Amino acid sequence: MHISVLSTESIKQLKIKKNGIYIDATFGYGGHSNLILKKLNQYGKLFSIDKDPESIKFSKKIKDPKFNIIHDNFSNIYKLSIKYNIEKKIDGILLDLGISTPQINTPERGFSFKIDGPLDMRMNPNYGISAADWIANATENELSSVIKNFGEERFHKKIAYHIFQRKKIKPIRRTIELSEIITKIISHKKRKKHPATKTFQAIRIYINKELEEIKKVLKNSLKILKKGGRLVVISFHSLEDRIVKKFMNKYGKKPSIPRGLPITEHQIDKFKKIKLKIIKKIKPTTIEILKNPKSRSAILRVAEKI
Ligand SMILES: C[S@@+](CC[C@H](N)C(=O)[O-])C[C@H]1O[C@@H](n2cnc3c(N)ncnc32)[C@H](O)[C@@H]1O
Repeated sequence: MHISVLSTESIKQLKIKKNGIYIDATFGYGGHSNLILKKLNQYGKLFSIDKDPESIKFSKKIKDPKFNIIHDNFSNIYKLSIKYNIEKKIDGILLDLGISTPQINTPERGFSFKIDGPLDMRMNPNYGISAADWIANATENELSSVIKNFGEERFHKKIAYHIFQRKKIKPIRRTIELSEIITKIISHKKRKKHPATKTFQAIRIYINKELEEIKKVLKNSLKILKKGGRLVVISFHSLEDRIVKKFMNKYGKKPSIPRGLPITEHQIDKFKKIKLKIIKKIKPTTIEILKNPKSRSAILRVAEKI
């Protein structure tokens, strides 16, 4: 089961027009897509994307002529909009970043540090290399920099050292093997979360090129939204949210010009870049966090194409 996060708010912020065209770029298990479909009339259209074949299989349950499912990376949103002839006709794009509950809870997918499974971590297991294969070939420095940059893990050097020493003796192929290396060297007492949380997050982000994907989809969404179209993004950790915030500020924040001073070339350039109106930032309510603890770190940001 996947409980969609900030679903009421995100759908409200999409300002759905009955006959509009929408993209749910992270279909997952269809929570948000189903809510969008309910608001469309027979002339409306929803294009949902996911890179995970399991999500695509699940989507086949939706029998609605307004619904179109696409198995692809969301960074390809521009090419896809040309293919489906919806470029610049899109009224709203929703991104609910991160991974779904079934992905994390299915041991065979290799995302969980709690349940044993093959150390895979690919959202699309038919593409790219698994976490186990990457670890097998990574240098100590590479391990350390991934764990530092994508996990913001304070003990990145220590963890990288121990992973590296352990893999010299025996390859690390299982999630529990990796998780045990970390729990042996970092005590539970020192932190609120499981000691392997940040390392697993880091490797997952690296393996799936998550941050690059987000940068690309945001940029491409600007090209395909129509005037007044909404961009609604839910992120789950600071690395994602920082990218979204920076992007919205870059295209949405007007330069401040001190009164009485002439406008500089630089400020004119910045004005020309303005393509978005920043609408708002929303966090889950205490009630939502109580119902779905996974929502506690979620942040929803909304902008509108101008
Ligand atoms: C948090 S879940 C979305 C849940 C969904 N909103 C729901 O209500 O069921 C994120 C989904 O996005 C997909 N995803 C993540 N990065 C992607 C990418 N770069 N391209 C396409 N799909 C991606 C994942 O496979 C996962 O199914």
